[in-house]
Amino acid sequence: MNFIKNDLSLTGNQKKYLEDLAGKIKNIMPASLYRHTINTLEFACSIAKKYLSDKEFFKLSIACMLHDYGKIFDYEELMKIAREEKLKVSEFEMNCPPLLHSFVGEYLVRRDFDISDLKILKAIRLHTVGSCSMGILEKILFIADKIEKDRNYEGVENLRGLAVANINLCLLEVYKNNIIYNIKKDKLLHPDTVKIWNNICGGI
Ligand SMILES: [Fe+2]
Repeated sequence: MNFIKNDLSLTGNQKKYLEDLAGKIKNIMPASLYRHTINTLEFACSIAKKYLSDKEFFKLSIACMLHDYGKIFDYEELMKIAREEKLKVSEFEMNCPPLLHSFVGEYLVRRDFDISDLKILKAIRLHTVGSCSMGILEKILFIADKIEKDRNYEGVENLRGLAVANINLCLLEVYKNNIIYNIKKDKLLHPDTVKIWNNICGGI
């Protein structure tokens, strides 16, 4: 976490908050998930300087650290919480284990970490499926999650370079990869995916 300690765009209190948060999630996440979390944070921070203000940089760091918090709960627990709390989760999302952690994660992060900032919560909610209304912070988390340094698939190196050069083009390529991956594996596509793809391509 030296990159947080040495970051000039963060205040002393913000650095302390992030260090404490890292300590908390390290205690509750499996080692592989914690590693992925820190990798996502590192990659997001490495490109954020170009795109975000200092204030948003702090929010992005929190969103990265907590984006997969929902993954420490098992699928049945997530479904139970979504039902009991009457969360805004569609039937499709409820039946899709790899996606549910982000939709319920928004609620869990608010409940367990007292996070109420809407940008942070929105970025966590949207990091799996995306949305037509993603701002730059949400885009950075969405992308960093898919191309952090341990991700290993054909073309990922190019995507890392593209993230620095042109974030919107990178989003298009990352989204394209996701769609192709799901189709090749005979996996379902989220009903919003075509709408989001058309939006990313500049359509309506
Ligand atoms: Fe993730």
